[in-house]
Amino acid sequence: MGLLSVLSLAHKWTAERVQPGDAVIDATAGNGVDTLFLCELAGPKGQVYAFDIQEQALRNTQRRLERARQEGRRIAPAELLLLSHDQMVQAVPEHQHGRIAAALFNLGYLPAPGADPSLITKPETTITALESALALLRPGGLLSVVLYPGHAGGDTEAAAVDNWAQQLDPQAAQAAQYRMLQKPQAPYLIAVEKRK
Ligand SMILES: C[S@@+](CC[C@H](N)C(=O)[O-])C[C@H]1O[C@@H](n2cnc3c(N)ncnc32)[C@H](O)[C@@H]1O
Repeated sequence: MGLLSVLSLAHKWTAERVQPGDAVIDATAGNGVDTLFLCELAGPKGQVYAFDIQEQALRNTQRRLERARQEGRRIAPAELLLLSHDQMVQAVPEHQHGRIAAALFNLGYLPAPGADPSLITKPETTITALESALALLRPGGLLSVVLYPGHAGGDTEAAAVDNWAQQLDPQAAQAAQYRMLQKPQAPYLIAVEKRK
């Protein structure tokens, strides 16, 4: 068996921290693959908050969740929010602040036919959103960020996220990186665990 892909490792580490009934955040809903994954982990008594700035993304996510429900899969309710993830603190209800088990950021553009490739995540809003997500996590909660240094704009965003994670107070959070060393352009993962 080869090494896990970056997204598989993000999912594995997330699954280790999320229990049925938990509240979780998908910061970039896209086509809903990650949202559905989180809805399955959180289960029918949990709650998922999913953000995207594109209606097309939220429609695709909604369709994916509906299909899963029609198939009888027992998944968490999801609030699909047409908002930039830097609005996360205002959008997630106050009673969930400090109780979020995990947040997943799968950065970049919407990989869907006809989607506007210029609508990508941007360093300024991404960093604000990461700060917010860390504040919303419960102690021991996990933030996962999948970065794409190989596309235009993705390299500067990845550098900004690296810099942000490196500067975190180690007493407050522990940060790790997972990447394929012979493929510097390939996607990689930064995971941040909030200290207990
Ligand atoms: C790589 S895709 C996400 C893939 C998705 N998680 C999935 O499972 O299909 C990145 C998404 O981030 C969204 N995005 C870009 N800027 C954003 C922002 N400021 N806030 C929230 N989402 C954003 C894009 O519209 C795009 O759908």
